[in-house]
Amino acid sequence: MKKILVVDDVQEITELVVMILESELDQYEFLEFSSGNQAISYLKESPQDVDLIICDHNMPDGTGSDVYTFIKDNDLQIPYIHMSTGLHTEFEKLKSLLEDHPANACMTKPFDDEILTSLTMSALSLKKDPSEKKYTQLSIVNVSPYIGEFFKVYIEIDNKPRLLFNDSTTTDQVKIIELKNKGLTHVLVETDEYHQWIKSKLSHLNKMVGECHFEEPHNIKQLTDTLFKHSVLIINQANPKELNLEKMTKSFEIVLNTLWDKSEIKKDLLKVFSHLGYLSGHSAICMVLSWLYTKKHKQGDLSLFHKLSYASLLHDISLPDDHTSALLTRSDVDKSEYKESEKDFILQHPNYSAEKLESLDVIDSDTLRIIKEHHEKPDGSGYPKSLSKSNSHKLSTAFQFILTLAHIIYTKKDLDEIRNDDRLKGFELKDYQELLDCLQRN
Ligand SMILES: [Fe+2]
Ligand SMILES: [Fe+2]
Repeated sequence: MKKILVVDDVQEITELVVMILESELDQYEFLEFSSGNQAISYLKESPQDVDLIICDHNMPDGTGSDVYTFIKDNDLQIPYIHMSTGLHTEFEKLKSLLEDHPANACMTKPFDDEILTSLTMSALSLKKDPSEKKYTQLSIVNVSPYIGEFFKVYIEIDNKPRLLFNDSTTTDQVKIIELKNKGLTHVLVETDEYHQWIKSKLSHLNKMVGECHFEEPHNIKQLTDTLFKHSVLIINQANPKELNLEKMTKSFEIVLNTLWDKSEIKKDLLKVFSHLGYLSGHSAICMVLSWLYTKKHKQGDLSLFHKLSYASLLHDISLPDDHTSALLTRSDVDKSEYKESEKDFILQHPNYSAEKLESLDVIDSDTLRIIKEHHEKPDGSGYPKSLSKSNSHKLSTAFQFILTLAHIIYTKKDLDEIRNDDRLKGFELKDYQELLDCLQRN
């Protein structure tokens, strides 16, 4: 039987990954390992039947890098999904992951059952069965520790599901063990109940990941970087329908609501983001500023916050790297060392970002317009269209201001100097007074 290796030092994670996948992939056997070295030992013995490896990175006994290096050194040609809180590019040995094999992928934690399934199916070149099944089949070995958590459990007799338990409080583990001993390999649960159960397990796990890391600025940085890169990754690689902007914005909002009132964190928050790469760093700062702007000037208008934060997150989605995302004005682009054709591309990137998002049908028309106009300036000196304030969308000017401020904060560490920065010339500072004040009080 073909095999999928699932490697993570947190047992709950390997179990859950297997449970999520086995309902879609009944032709595979899943092998769980708690360390990189365990997985390597298995691969040394019998690499031939392994069709996929899903592997955490930071584990005490052998990291994801060790496993990946072993696969590469031995030319095993097994697709590899990196599953970690950080992106693969943070690890030297994994930098070329996506180029090395067309089926390789990166999945950041906290993850989602749909993302996991979709990345796995595409790594195995399989298509998801679109029909909605009433029952989901689970292997009894994996499900037995949790069986009491399902309200209804069935077994298949003569191709029909027969109810085994219909009350989670009286589930008899002994009966399950008996059935297992008699050779029963699978049970059925109701698909709807199963999805709910998976969601609650995942949210518990993701909360656990969150609680471990929220307190230190270093980890807020990691969390934010993950959030941003995750969205870029989904847009560029996987099924765009999985891009849950609302959920991502919500995570960000929770982080901000939790942290902004903690004075010592507040002081560091923006500074922390400016230690990220330019692309995710200035986008993260932009999102914080969108949150503050909405809170201070627009009574926390949630739909406005969503528009501004989606624009913060996605405006530079067409740019290739940190370097190009640092160019704010037309003259920054003109002065850069890029070739003329590259400069043309950079000057058109607001349109390319919008086109990309438009074809995916993931955001509303206001946000698309804001993205198209994110490098315009109220005095008409911006690009690509040199639109003045009166020709821009009414939300674009606010976003242009927020974005310019984000560029300034990213590059200038002294917040008291912001107001005098040349890049703010052309904006009506009095329209943003409270936002500027609350930055300076930091
Ligand atoms: Fe940008
Ligand atoms: Fe841009």
